[in-house]
Amino acid sequence: MKMPFSSNSSASPSTFETECLAVVVLDRGEKDKPAVSVESSDPAVLEAAASVVASGDVTGKLYETTLVHAPGKLKAKRLLLVGGGKAKTFSNADLRRVAGAAARTLKAKNIRNFAFVAPPNSLPAELAVRTIVEGLYIADFDSDTYKTDRKDQSLQTVNVLSAGDPAKLQQAMDEGRILGDSLNFSRDLINEPSNRMTPTILGERARKMAEEVGIKCEVFGADKIKELKMGAFWSVAQGSDEPPALIVLRYEPADATGPVLGLVGKGVTFDTGGISIKPADGMEKMKYDMAGGATMLGAMRAIALLKPKRKVIGIVCATENMPSGKAQKPGDVQIAMSGKAIEIINTDAEGRLVLADGLHYARQLGCTELIDAATLTGAVVVALGQIHAGIFCNNDALYERFQKAQNAQGEKMWRLPLDEEYRELIRSNIADIINSGGRYGGAITAAMFLKEFVEDTPWIHLDIAGTTWIEDGKPWIAKGPSGIALRSIVEFARG
Ligand code: BES
Ligand code: MN
Ligand code: ZN
Repeated sequence: MKMPFSSNSSASPSTFETECLAVVVLDRGEKDKPAVSVESSDPAVLEAAASVVASGDVTGKLYETTLVHAPGKLKAKRLLLVGGGKAKTFSNADLRRVAGAAARTLKAKNIRNFAFVAPPNSLPAELAVRTIVEGLYIADFDSDTYKTDRKDQSLQTVNVLSAGDPAKLQQAMDEGRILGDSLNFSRDLINEPSNRMTPTILGERARKMAEEVGIKCEVFGADKIKELKMGAFWSVAQGSDEPPALIVLRYEPADATGPVLGLVGKGVTFDTGGISIKPADGMEKMKYDMAGGATMLGAMRAIALLKPKRKVIGIVCATENMPSGKAQKPGDVQIAMSGKAIEIINTDAEGRLVLADGLHYARQLGCTELIDAATLTGAVVVALGQIHAGIFCNNDALYERFQKAQNAQGEKMWRLPLDEEYRELIRSNIADIINSGGRYGGAITAAMFLKEFVEDTPWIHLDIAGTTWIEDGKPWIAKGPSGIALRSIVEFARG
């Protein structure tokens, strides 16, 4: 997965020796008059593309690829034209995917060394370079880990060609690589099946990563979870023979200022539903119920390497949700770490239970601003499909700050409400709250449940149940784990 990138700011595309030179093509035309524009300031590149463009085969349509062999006076063996759509709307999110589409097209032809020309007229050079590198990393991931005939298909050397200040371009490239590598670290964890990604293994992976990037890591077991009186977390963990893990990562720079950010992730390594067992159909997907936790681990990795001047604490509550003779049952009452009494209506609403204690613990550790990520509800998939993640926030100022980060990264999220009126749906007769508000507004009542445990602390909840797994591959990304939310979270932590 490691790609040895190098930047070649001074090299002109036409004199660059490579297997393939990839260049973006945009449509700079008006409504009914398309005007294909090859995005390079190198005349020899334009000349090499001229005849295929004149043929009408190239339209600039998003992700359209055209391969030209022995292209004119270029030193490159091939020229790949990759469509970026309409110039007017071309964004850095498009560029990320266009770079990815180029990489996946070339990988399919076993071309793993190439050069990508940063489009000179659309985005600031550094942003473009960083974005391209991110896109290449995203494209390089495949989920076929256990195929016995798996060949190493990973990219080898990709040069990103751009004009600009070499030192700044190098920094942009390093940032892109950190983000891309961290994203793939998370995606790899999410992709693993539950027999190979138990809470213990997740804890070990976190520890190893923390050591590599130089941050503190503690992994606690059942004893500590009980000692902390995490009755909600433990109520899920008690049903499994696999020991749970409470993973705590700390990034604490000496020059830290501002609020202490807490990143809390749901780490359910397999969700059978427990005694309220799920139907067999599709249950295999519940191996990715730890995606929120994996996202926070990857985010902590990126933060440790990018070094923003603020303190960040990462917490992952990892456990299986299993039916067994020791499992909790509907009707049981559990006391959370905060002291709140929870009546269990449905043992399949386990994510909110582990997060309740994770969020409370984060506040106890001194976090003054919280983000959680979780594959929390099927209801969010019904509401928003597989395009937008659900975002909930109890503080408009925080929401605005997060939205900036999210827009900069082009991750789609849609805000859903947290009005007090919904609180009624999680009232219990015997205890303080129930853990399932029923079918109506299921994503919202789940968020309302979490809200009970953050109280007044500014908090964002990301329900990524519908967006964490890509069912069909796209030109720029393989099917499998998407890594949604990591980029926005890291951007937010830096900003
Ligand atoms: N892990 C599931 C949610 C989920 C559903 C994730 C689909 C990914 C894809 C969660 O633990 C769950 O089972 N939620 C229940 C809650 C209900 C019992 C209140 C749900 O959404 O059905
Ligand atoms: Mn569940
Ligand atoms: Zn779950």
